[in-house]
Amino acid sequence: MKNKVDLNIDDSKIELNLVKGSENEIGLDISSLRTESNMITLDPGYKNTGSCKSKITFLDGEKGILRYRGYSIEELAEKANFLEVAFLLIFGELPNQTQLNKFLIDIKENSIIDEDIKRILESFPKSAHPMGILSSLTSALIAFNPEKKISLDNKQNGDQDYMYNSIVKLLAKVPILVAWVHRRRKGLPLDYGDNNLGYVENITKMMFQLPNQDYVNNKIIIDAMNKLLILHADHEQNCSTSTVRIVGSSEASLFASVAAGISALWGRLHGGANQAVLEMLEAIKKDGGDTKKFMLKAKDKSDPFRLMGFGHRVYKNFDPRAKIIKVTANKILNELGISDPILEIAKGLEKEALKDSYFVERKLYPNVDFYSGIIYKALEIPNEMFTVMFALGRLPGWVAHWREMRLNNEPIGRPRQIYTGETLRKFLEMGLR
Ligand code: SDX
Repeated sequence: MKNKVDLNIDDSKIELNLVKGSENEIGLDISSLRTESNMITLDPGYKNTGSCKSKITFLDGEKGILRYRGYSIEELAEKANFLEVAFLLIFGELPNQTQLNKFLIDIKENSIIDEDIKRILESFPKSAHPMGILSSLTSALIAFNPEKKISLDNKQNGDQDYMYNSIVKLLAKVPILVAWVHRRRKGLPLDYGDNNLGYVENITKMMFQLPNQDYVNNKIIIDAMNKLLILHADHEQNCSTSTVRIVGSSEASLFASVAAGISALWGRLHGGANQAVLEMLEAIKKDGGDTKKFMLKAKDKSDPFRLMGFGHRVYKNFDPRAKIIKVTANKILNELGISDPILEIAKGLEKEALKDSYFVERKLYPNVDFYSGIIYKALEIPNEMFTVMFALGRLPGWVAHWREMRLNNEPIGRPRQIYTGETLRKFLEMGLR
């Protein structure tokens, strides 16, 4: 492969470098474009634009491949636990037992939250959406975990202790906030669970333990939670991760960057889709289960209805996570003895879409959000908490990208634009307008 291309503009020629990744992806490096041509590129939604080089996650949308640090999502979902996948994403290698034990101990040592945070939580109306609360409380954590002052000449980027402490604090505190948000909605007392338990085991205990009852971890639920959290852990430069990277590029703290990422994930075109899928399936069930009617609505350009949980910016084949979650949903419902008509409606929609020319031509397949809500529902997690569970899973991915961006000393993110507004005009006094 050549490592440069020529861009001919009028009578001038610019040489641009080609960049090749470890999976043979090719990028056109335009970092010199503006200085050499006074031109910029324009790419709304960044559909053709790479923002960075990254070693964390690899996606192949045509083949439906997803790997974290080179390990296939299928193997990790089957064989790993969430905390070791978090360690892998953040630090680049699977931990040995000593490293994993230390990681968990360091997290547990930071799993206390200032009681004033509870007062902030209690100040929210009961009707407040959990994602808005989680983003606010994650931001509030900054006030109670003040950043160490940095002078301009000692950038935090190289300060590994600062980074590691921020990372274990965040991984310790956000699951507690998630459990507290869930419990407050149910009118249950807030607690810290049991620090003698594993990471995911304690999350489930904090979320589901009822007052005055011993909580026995159910292996089915633990396995389901582990798998769901692993499947959501990272997905390269998606909307919320790109948000974390660009906010972090201003040297904003990890907490502030992740709080922004939580807000970006909330949108129904992104992580909010898992809640929207369940609401859509429940609406179809309430309407009599006529999936064909809703397929027609999804294809009707004059109708704002979209088949939520379908389509993806990168995957033009099956989302490998959706395949795993669909099998897991069947397994969990059988093991828990639940028969949920919603699952059958979802399968019916998928079956019809996969043979419908509108969806086939546009390569619209079920994505990670299409079946996940069915499992959350079986675990008795309310619809409005689904995207919070997505955020809980995505935490290590956001952390890994924030750390990578900072260690690479990447420049502050500041895209350009093509201005299409008014050209210069004179200010007219009020009487003259
Ligand atoms: C996530 O990026 C990531 O990696 C995200 C994520 C992660 O792990 O971080 O994977 C998580 O966000 C998954 C996606 C969850 N969102 C949804 O399920 C919402 C429904 N899907 C769509 O809104 C849409 O498919 C997107 C937002 C996911 C992708 O949108 P794109 O890439 O901008 O594609 P597009 O909107 O330009 O659609 C292309 C065509 C259009 O039709 P035409 O104009 O060509 O005629 O496909 C149509 C769209 O109208 N289309 C759909 C559709 N999705 C796309 N038509 C009906 N139903 C849909 N769901």
